[in-house]
Amino acid sequence: MYKIAVIPGDGTGPEVIREGLKVLEAVAKRHNFQYTTSIFDFGGDRFLKTGKTLEDKDIEELKKYSAIYLGAIGHPDVKAGILETGILLKLRFSLGQYINLRPVKLYNEKFCPLKDKKPEDIDFVVVRENSEGLYKGMGEFQNKGSKDEVAIQISYNTRKGVERCIRYAFEYCRKRNRKKKLTLCGKTNVLTFAWDLWQRTFDEVAKEYPDIATDYAHVDAATMWFVKNPEWFDVIVTDNMFGDIITDLGAMIQGGMGIAAGGNINPQGVSMFEPIGGSAPKYTGKNVINPLAAICAAGMMLENLGEVEAAGAVENAVIKVVAKKLKSLAAGKMGYSTSEVGDLVTKYLE
Ligand code: IPM
Ligand code: MN
Repeated sequence: MYKIAVIPGDGTGPEVIREGLKVLEAVAKRHNFQYTTSIFDFGGDRFLKTGKTLEDKDIEELKKYSAIYLGAIGHPDVKAGILETGILLKLRFSLGQYINLRPVKLYNEKFCPLKDKKPEDIDFVVVRENSEGLYKGMGEFQNKGSKDEVAIQISYNTRKGVERCIRYAFEYCRKRNRKKKLTLCGKTNVLTFAWDLWQRTFDEVAKEYPDIATDYAHVDAATMWFVKNPEWFDVIVTDNMFGDIITDLGAMIQGGMGIAAGGNINPQGVSMFEPIGGSAPKYTGKNVINPLAAICAAGMMLENLGEVEAAGAVENAVIKVVAKKLKSLAAGKMGYSTSEVGDLVTKYLE
């Protein structure tokens, strides 16, 4: 019996989570597993009413669950940064979710913005470090507000933090068993402290994985390869900031934010799964947002819980709906409403 904590969150979060839960219910019946859900109202509306983001007792409560299923965090009436750091990043950091796993997989070539690229060309996974780097929030203002102002933002990289991420990526690459190639994506030519540590750690850990081919790409070049030769990649490991940036590009080449899902993984604890597209305020409440990213996130959650067949069934159903039904993966252009897309995925489950 799995205990799933559900955080629908802001904007279109609740609409897409509703479809994800619909699919979850249907797939649980077919694959004979049971679960309970508890809804948590963390998000912008609650913050505006109570001034609360996320408290330490909330974190303790969430630790009791098998997994967390998150819609979106971000509210147009709340200053940028408050909910992101107070809720989303706090969840990732406090729950020790030190990996952000983002598969970039093209399900159908008709939705790829790149010319002549097919599903077999775009199928890789970004392993983004999820607890350190520039996201650590270290830094300071000097002479704030004056003409001599300096703003310092530190990228904080620990040997232990870097090594556990790189190790996870090697293990993941081995288990994935595709091209068996791990690419380190960094900036060794300019960021000579952080990426020296990353490169040394990568080279050392690589010795333990003789079956995995290793490669290196500077982050700027990687964005070029994503467009030009995405078929080169299998698994990519990178830091928090670069991972944030390149996975938005990854989302676009796989068909857009409507289909891009991710997992915040604590390999020893509670992991959290989310569509990566954000709260999309302008589509809120219109029943037009694409729920497939949230449905794919539910699939990733099932895989993480060990329900591998159920996860595969969800993915196959998504592939069929994308191939046979949808006119576009973009909000308002799918040819179906949000809830209809959820119904279609449920119908195509086998
Ligand atoms: C993401 C988002 C978050 C991030 C924001 C909302 C804090 O862009 O999950 O990629 O930067 O990690
Ligand atoms: Mn992002």
